[in-house]
Amino acid sequence: MSPRDPRHRVALLTGASSGIGEALAAALAAQGTHVLLAARSVPRLEALRTRIEAAGGRATVVPADLAAPGAAGRLFDDVQRLGHPVDLLVNNAGFGFHGAFEAEALDHLSDMLQVNVVALTELTRHFVPGLLARRGTVLNVASTVSFQPAPFLSAYGATKAFVLSLSEALWAEYRERGLHVVALCPGPVETPFIDAAGPGVRSTAVFRRLLTVTDVVAAAMAAIEAPGPTRIVGLRNWLMAQSARVSPRGLTARISAALLAPAGTHTT
Ligand SMILES: NC(=O)c1ccc[n+]([C@@H]2O[C@H](COP(=O)([O-])OP(=O)(O)OC[C@H]3O[C@@H](n4cnc5c(N)ncnc54)[C@H](OP(=O)(O)O)[C@@H]3O)[C@@H](O)[C@H]2O)c1
Repeated sequence: MSPRDPRHRVALLTGASSGIGEALAAALAAQGTHVLLAARSVPRLEALRTRIEAAGGRATVVPADLAAPGAAGRLFDDVQRLGHPVDLLVNNAGFGFHGAFEAEALDHLSDMLQVNVVALTELTRHFVPGLLARRGTVLNVASTVSFQPAPFLSAYGATKAFVLSLSEALWAEYRERGLHVVALCPGPVETPFIDAAGPGVRSTAVFRRLLTVTDVVAAAMAAIEAPGPTRIVGLRNWLMAQSARVSPRGLTARISAALLAPAGTHTT
């Protein structure tokens, strides 16, 4: 059974080298949770581990490139070898592409599908039996683009729709067996994600108002403890997600296109 006391918990976070994952790992470690830090940038993970340990916390670096086929299985095996049973799995690693669908290089597209969808799903599948036994938690980082089509972020948005759908389904499947699954849905957040997604992102209407990592970490910490399947970060983002449910799908897609189009792009 998973300890309620965070000081006796172990959390594995993917994408812990930057942005939301880095800040969430530090926040969990400050509560006393032993954090296992996964990503590709080992020097950044080591720097975070050093900061956490200097503050009296516990952290272990577990390098992983989740774009490589089979990476989730290898990460699971590496974590098993460490001998720390995981109570909280945070599937946070992810990246996007902003621009015309045909402009994304095929390698980039397939890596994105691999990291955002395949690795997240496989990692969840590997850890669920242990998490069920320990009455643990899976926190999957989705997005507000999970709730409607996202023209100019089309494939990225579809990966996040997948994450939301999977998470809500698993929440319902496991809630009475003691495993908590929750999708965290931030709107745009000031992290390196934005500039990595493409030069036009900041010119779009949606990306002009940004959440801070602190807002997202507070929501993530609450989502881990709360019983619900979904946590949308920010009232404005919550209202937008609700409006997508009631408006006709074609209209929603067209409004999204206007909000996500790079400046100067004509949408109808
Ligand atoms: N920022 C936003 O506007 C926003 C909004 C909604 C949702 N999100 C989601 O939030 C999550 C975190 O993003 P962020 O905003 O914090 O961006 P970020 O600062 O760019 O962090 C992305 C993290 O993913 C990791 N990652 C990328 N490719 C990887 C790979 N092949 N293998 C292992 N790890 C990989 C990166 O680590 P390495 O490069 O070291 O591997 C990094 O730690 C993502 O799932 C993103 O889709 C972001």
